[in-house]
Amino acid sequence: MEHPNPQTMGQQFGRRSWAEPWKIKMVEPLRVISREERERALAEAGYNTFLLRSDDVYIDLLTDSGASAMSDRQWAGMMLGDEAYAGSRNFYHLEEAVQTYYGYRYIVPTHQGRGTEHLISQALIKPGMFVPGNMYFTTTRLHQELAGGTFVDVIIDEAHDPSSRHPFKGDVDLDKLQALIDRVGVDQIAYVSLAGTVNMAGGQPVSLANMRALRELCDRYGIRIYLDATRMVENAYFIQEREPGYADKSIAAILRECCSYTDGAWMSAKKDNLVNIGGWLAVNDRDLYDVLGNLVVIYEGLHTYGGMAGRDMEALAIGIVESVQDAHIRSRIGQVYYLGELLTDWEIPIVQPVGGHAIFLDARRFYQHMPQEHLPAQTLAAELYLDSGIRSMERGIVSAGRDPQTGENRRPALELTRLTIPRRVYTQAHMDVVAESVKAIYDARERTQGLEIVYEPKYLRFFQARFERL
Ligand code: F0G
Repeated sequence: MEHPNPQTMGQQFGRRSWAEPWKIKMVEPLRVISREERERALAEAGYNTFLLRSDDVYIDLLTDSGASAMSDRQWAGMMLGDEAYAGSRNFYHLEEAVQTYYGYRYIVPTHQGRGTEHLISQALIKPGMFVPGNMYFTTTRLHQELAGGTFVDVIIDEAHDPSSRHPFKGDVDLDKLQALIDRVGVDQIAYVSLAGTVNMAGGQPVSLANMRALRELCDRYGIRIYLDATRMVENAYFIQEREPGYADKSIAAILRECCSYTDGAWMSAKKDNLVNIGGWLAVNDRDLYDVLGNLVVIYEGLHTYGGMAGRDMEALAIGIVESVQDAHIRSRIGQVYYLGELLTDWEIPIVQPVGGHAIFLDARRFYQHMPQEHLPAQTLAAELYLDSGIRSMERGIVSAGRDPQTGENRRPALELTRLTIPRRVYTQAHMDVVAESVKAIYDARERTQGLEIVYEPKYLRFFQARFERL
């Protein structure tokens, strides 16, 4: 099926340029080290960008996680921290913000996203159960597996094709979900693990039409839907941009509607919510809340702080309100589009359409001579750092890890290198520098050799694995 390019769709309506709805009050100097120093730093880091010191990095596009710039309001909120062990006033501000903007009833704070994944997986998954979802995420799937579950990918096929221009590549394939229900029986389905702007697919959104249809199917069987809301605000932007009938709805209204089709959500507040640390879990079911509110005390902290300081919760409550402003999200994704358009104009292979939080370079097409065993996406991240000190992240065969049953490498169709853009941190000029560096290593692509793994930890190997040049 042919789809128009969603990014240029707006232009036919004569949309004007965006600019950031803020100005800069404080700056953090950047350091550029020489090519020789980068060679040494990268070799010491075992060719893994996670093992570099940030002092050796120029533009840091490793992740958008916890790397946002907070606003003056959020910093002012930090001074209002109520560090009482129990019942901190900041918790109630956070609770109210989540209830208002996401619409769920009961809130459990945690130190970050994977803390919430741990709790919800332990509460809802019994050994042998299946957890269908719209593509895996590394930490999410690991917590589901550690609870005894098996994750089953039920995303539409287009999500695995980096050149498909489907506007909602995050959609669930309801036939795949139905087939799983028929195969294993409804009692063996723990819940549907639904993610907004699917990270591993390239930051691709799920449509409201799909969420509605998913709700209907799940209601027929009494299956619950829990949302990974980490980047759901960005997802709401794509709905506003692409889904008929939503162009005039606010991001806040769209976000509320999305959440209304789910039974609860978990959140890494380090992304959309504009804080450097924090997370929350929110559900509508009181009994489930009681279980989660009890588990959090074991693993994170009391149910009114969950691993965050009072000041963190205040900054988070303010960050939630800022994150759903239309002008904020338009400029945030506008910047990602800007970089995507530069690379597209230069015919550099990237995942299309451009997603919400990052540009994903398609390493298979970038290094066409390199088999997946030679780790093209890891190699690309290493080459980019060597060229200019820009730090990116592998999202391919290394991140996919091994099948826990067979021990074999999982071989994902997508072999990507992620240029992740932190919120409110870099300027358009930084994006120009990034694009030029990608172009330089693309021009040198035929001379580039791959990498091999020489050390591999047991869990989430991409964080700490070491590599050598072939
Ligand atoms: N869910 C999604 C979709 C994520 O992207 C992440 C983290 C998590 C859950 C876990 O949250 O890091 O706060 O524990 N993603 C980061 C990234 C690490 O770089 O994409 P966390």
